[in-house]
Amino acid sequence: MNGLKFIKVNNPDEGSENLFNIIKEALEKNELHVLGLATGGTMIPVYKKWVESDLDFSGVTTFNLDEYVGISDDNPNGYAYFMNEHLFSKKKFKKVNTLNGLAENLEEECQRFEDLLLANPLDIQILGVGENGHIAFNEPGTPFDSVTHVAKLTQSTLEVNSRFFKPGEKVPNTAMTMGIKSILRAKKIVLLAFGEKKRAALTKLSEGKVDSEWPITKLLEHDNVTIITDLAI
Ligand code: F6R
Repeated sequence: MNGLKFIKVNNPDEGSENLFNIIKEALEKNELHVLGLATGGTMIPVYKKWVESDLDFSGVTTFNLDEYVGISDDNPNGYAYFMNEHLFSKKKFKKVNTLNGLAENLEEECQRFEDLLLANPLDIQILGVGENGHIAFNEPGTPFDSVTHVAKLTQSTLEVNSRFFKPGEKVPNTAMTMGIKSILRAKKIVLLAFGEKKRAALTKLSEGKVDSEWPITKLLEHDNVTIITDLAI
C-alpha cells in the first residue's frame, strides 16, 4: 500500500538508539550528505546520543524544519538556539541551514531556504509530530503542495509549545516552516513519536487514508518512511 515501516520500541531512549543506527549506517555507506533536522522535546535524547558518539558529520549539510518569527539566534526559545545548544555547538557539520526568524522579508527568506533545499536534496529528513498531526509547522489544513512558507500556529500548538517558555513569555503565533511538499521530496523520512499524546496522530496514519486535517497522513504517499514509536498502534 505504501512505504511505511513501523519500528516499535520500549521507550524514547531505545527509539533514539534505532535512529542512531539508521544515521550511522547511512554515513558508513556514504549515503548521507544532506540531513533534515527537527527540534522539540523528542529530539533531545536523539542529539545527546549523537554528541556522545564518534559519528562524523563533517561532510553533512543540514536543514532545520522551522523557526518562530520574531525570534533571534540568541533567544533561548528559538529553534536556532535549540540546535546550537543540543547539537551544532558540539558536533562539526559541513554547513547548517536554519530559517532566519528576524528576516525583514519573510517571503524572501522562505524562498531563499526553498531554493537551497532544491539545490541540496535531502537524503534523510527526521520528523517529530504534533498532537494535532502537524509535521514541522504544517498545521491541519495546510495545502499538501506547500513549500517553505510563513505559517500561523494553531491554538493547540501554542498551548502545547508554551511548556518550553517561561511563565509570562508569549509563544509567537507565526513561524516559517518547510512545506509538506518540501518534506516529501526527501529520499527517506524517519518520524519519531513517543507517548500517549501522539496516539491520535499515529492512529490516523495507520488508518491509511490521506486527510488534510491530519498532515502526518500525507506520509502515506511517500515510498520510504520509517516510524519509530513506543506506542502499539
Ligand atoms: C519541530 C517541529 C515540530 C515538532 C512537534 C513535536 O522542529 O517541527 O513539528 O516535531 O511539534 O514536538 P515535541 O517533540 O516537542 O513533542
